[in-house]
Amino acid sequence: MEVKYRLAENNDLDGIFRVEKSSFSSPWLFESLLYDVCLSSVSIYIVALVDKSIIGFCGAHLVVDECHINNVAVLPKFRRAGVGQGLVKTLMTLTQETVTGYTLEVRQSNINAIKLYQKFGFTQQGIRENYYADTQEDALIMFMQLKA
Ligand SMILES: CC(C)(COP(=O)(O)OP(=O)(O)OC[C@H]1O[C@@H](n2cnc3c(N)ncnc32)[C@H](O)[C@@H]1OP(=O)(O)O)[C@@H](O)C(=O)NCCC(=O)NCCS
Repeated sequence: MEVKYRLAENNDLDGIFRVEKSSFSSPWLFESLLYDVCLSSVSIYIVALVDKSIIGFCGAHLVVDECHINNVAVLPKFRRAGVGQGLVKTLMTLTQETVTGYTLEVRQSNINAIKLYQKFGFTQQGIRENYYADTQEDALIMFMQLKA
């Protein structure tokens, strides 16, 4: 399977929303995603494509010198093939000159995502209690500092 990675464009929105809905119990609303992908000045989105079709995406915010990863998601049938890793790697390649580190929140039960982030050197820095409104689950705060 040949997977291509690139910065998202406005007309990728429907494909990104499809992946979002297939991946989260409480997906972002289409309107929220539209703002974040197409209008926000701090957002950066990477998409993964197979045969020109979007199979995964990664979304982040660049705030001052930090990159806050909001979402990494891959269509279920394309998981465990390195696509999540490819998305995070592409995001880092494109942003590492402008940031000093990366941070994110992740559900403490989401072992697969935690393992993915640990592969990039993320470590747990704290907990946000009752962070997720749907289940009141705690979030792990993870951080990865780039070396100077
Ligand atoms: C988390 C997610 C993005 C991973 O995407 P993926 O393409 O399957 O991940 P990769 O194949 O690149 O795996 C990278 C590493 O993550 C870990 N991992 C991912 N899925 C795993 C699983 N099902 N079981 C165990 N480890 C897993 C492994 O360490 C893996 O490395 P390895 O294959 O060398 O063992 C995907 O499972 C997903 O979309 N989940 C739903 C959305 C979500 O929870 N996103 C994260 C919250 S922001």
